[in-house]
Amino acid sequence: MTRSVRKILPKESSDPKREISLSVNGEAVTRKVSTRLLLADFLRHELGLTGTHVGCEHGVCGCCTVTIDGATARSCLTLAVQAYGAFVAAWPHRDQRYRDAQDRLARLEGGR
Ligand code: FES
Repeated sequence: MTRSVRKILPKESSDPKREISLSVNGEAVTRKVSTRLLLADFLRHELGLTGTHVGCEHGVCGCCTVTIDGATARSCLTLAVQAYGAFVAAWPHRDQRYRDAQDRLARLEGGR
């Protein structure tokens, strides 16, 4: 049986593309991206920074939060092209500190 898998980010699309350069976690990055690519998807799928999560995609839950030029921002509400020239800090991956913070938060929420 063949299973079809929906591609999240098609390799080829008719979307207009722009080259963006920015700093992510201190590293200079330059990529040609769709003008409608969300910053969250750029971080996760282009750069592999899977510590940036996507939950509600409405700016409510906060799991996609990053900093852009030192200010917190919801990467689900920010286009990657809007981060052109910015200094972005994002969770690199789910490391032990992240898991510990999630565990503490879950315990606090469970204690309500
Ligand atoms: S995914 Fe929930 S605030 Fe961005």
